[in-house]
Amino acid sequence: MSKPVIVSGIQPTGNLHIGNYLGAVKNWLELQKSGKYELYIFIADLHSLTGKLTAEQLREQVKITAAELLAAGIDPDKTTFFVQSQVVGHADLAWIFNCVTPMSELERMTQYKDKSEQLNKTTAGLFDYPVLQAADILIYKGEQVPVGQDQVQHVELTRDVARWFNNRYGEFFPEAKHLLTHVPKVMSLLEPEKKMSKSLGAGHVVELRETPEEIENKVKRAVTATSGGAQAPGVANLLGLLKEFGEKKVYEAFVAAEKDGSIRYGDLKKSLSDAIAKHFADFREKRAKLLKDEKKLEKILAKGAAKAQKVATANMQVVQKLVGIK
Ligand code: ADP
Ligand code: TRP
Repeated sequence: MSKPVIVSGIQPTGNLHIGNYLGAVKNWLELQKSGKYELYIFIADLHSLTGKLTAEQLREQVKITAAELLAAGIDPDKTTFFVQSQVVGHADLAWIFNCVTPMSELERMTQYKDKSEQLNKTTAGLFDYPVLQAADILIYKGEQVPVGQDQVQHVELTRDVARWFNNRYGEFFPEAKHLLTHVPKVMSLLEPEKKMSKSLGAGHVVELRETPEEIENKVKRAVTATSGGAQAPGVANLLGLLKEFGEKKVYEAFVAAEKDGSIRYGDLKKSLSDAIAKHFADFREKRAKLLKDEKKLEKILAKGAAKAQKVATANMQVVQKLVGIK
């Protein structure tokens, strides 16, 4: 029996932060470790063309993202790990999917609406972003897609795209499901009612690569309680993070202190910063080492792309026949 196929990607738009880690990357590592799945993890550089990076920045960020994912634990011997643009077929399949996808369905996408607003303009690329994502998943016949909460709508669209295609051309693509972690949405340090995101600015996120001092300074500035009443979202977020990174005993002591009103936010922040810094000590070292060895990174990515290409090519040949271009 072949293993279920799992596909996920990440844009090379910045350094990994603890939201990416807890919402997606950690799950990839657990799925990889289980050995039960055929795992495809890639760097979505074509998706990043919808943003504002210069060519130089994009090249640099792809390298950094590759080094960071490897440092976090992606093992290229167990996972097919590659850069999206190095595999021929993603964009071709997206075009075919464009021709079965109603515009009205893409107009509903909340990320498209938010990003168009942020950039103060929209492009056909931004509008079409989820169709390329569907192609990324379905070109490997992905059945499960481990992502954070904000990507669920795109995975649902992927399911619809598969159905639209299958209805028109015959059953070929599976209906992909999203896989969430138990922390699918880490909140911003400074605006805890919003998702922690690189696009909010540096003060809102904790990056995995940050030094213990940098982490401490950022967490120190995190918003905590507003006056009285129920647990403030900022406090809930910090406690949630301590639960993930800290020791159980320490976490439980802070939860109890929060309940009886004796909690000192300064202490909570110190414990949390220390726990995060410790958790990623090994990551920081590996990241630095990998970034010094560009040739090694290139080799790993080329090998991954070649492996992915075999599957992509085989599936595209069937698709081309089904639609009548072969
Ligand atoms: P960002 O919003 O910072 O640009 P990406 O869009 O590159 O992050 O997200 C990459 C992966 O990390 C996706 O699976 C996404 O759902 C997940 N993710 C991003 N931010 C968070 C967060 N704050 N909490 C949980 N998961 C997140
Ligand atoms: N849109 C995803 C994000 O911003 C990245 C992505 C691109 C992706 N293609 C994908 C995620 C395919 C899962 C599967 O995080």
